[in-house]
Amino acid sequence: MEKIYIPANVDRMISTSSKGDQSKWQIDEKWIKQNTRGYEGQAEVLSSLILYCSTLPTQEYVVYSPCEIILPNKEVSVGCYSLDFRGKLQEVTLERLFEANFTSSDLILNDQSLSTDEKFKRVLQQVERFTGLDVREEVSRMLAFDALILNEDRHTNNILFLYNPFAKTWRLAPIFDNGLSLLSDETDYPPGKPVSVLARKVIAKPFNSNFSKQLSLYKGPPFINKTKLVDKLEAEHFDFGRAKQVLWSQLHDPRLAHLFFEGSETHD
Ligand SMILES: Nc1ncnc2c1ncn2[C@@H]1O[C@H](COP(=O)(O)OP(=O)(O)O)[C@@H](O)[C@H]1O
Ligand SMILES: [Mg+2]
Repeated sequence: MEKIYIPANVDRMISTSSKGDQSKWQIDEKWIKQNTRGYEGQAEVLSSLILYCSTLPTQEYVVYSPCEIILPNKEVSVGCYSLDFRGKLQEVTLERLFEANFTSSDLILNDQSLSTDEKFKRVLQQVERFTGLDVREEVSRMLAFDALILNEDRHTNNILFLYNPFAKTWRLAPIFDNGLSLLSDETDYPPGKPVSVLARKVIAKPFNSNFSKQLSLYKGPPFINKTKLVDKLEAEHFDFGRAKQVLWSQLHDPRLAHLFFEGSETHD
């Protein structure tokens, strides 16, 4: 596994994840995240492998690689890293986008009188008004992906837009921060308990706490090449630990079957 040495002069950043405390460092073009509550890095790496086996072009998702992190005091831990996806673009989270337009996504998301469909419709309508982007298909596909990986961290700061201040254009950022998934939080989902039981406890975000409800927002075609994914999983030497077991279990869930197609390796 790649070793990354954290220089003494690089500050540790503490995360904005809904569970709070994952340490992160930026060293040149690398963004490094340390496992905190369990196997977040393995979940992150496996999630990007799934997307690699999808119809999504590579610029639409962030690739995470596993790494060993060596702190200035020689302490060793594990995690993952990704390469910078922002470049010179400005990042604006969904939450910040609403704030910049003198409103809040919470007004819609916390309105108990609204159905999941209605919340989705209203939020995405506003996004289109603020940016000109119609990203309904992309966002609903991300939520379908979240249902597959049981991502419990798709809060409004993990849906991101990139603004080009020179061209004054917007785009949706690549799918990123998928590490709190596949039951990686071993504090909340202790090892040794049946995966099927633990999976039922996971709470989805941001339109509904139920993954099936968010999954039903996606009306597009199958986008994950199951043949390619199974081949990759079988060929992969990296130890994904329980993350792989959780994914196998998810692959057999009939509610997710419409996300997959069987096909030869044509998307490389
Ligand atoms: N590869 C990357 N390229 C650019 N910015 C990144 C990258 N990875 C993380 N960041 C920045 O760090 C923030 C937090 O990263 P994220 O992966 O969401 O971790 P967490 O929320 O667990 O701290 C992101 O919102 C983004 O601003
Ligand atoms: Mg995040």
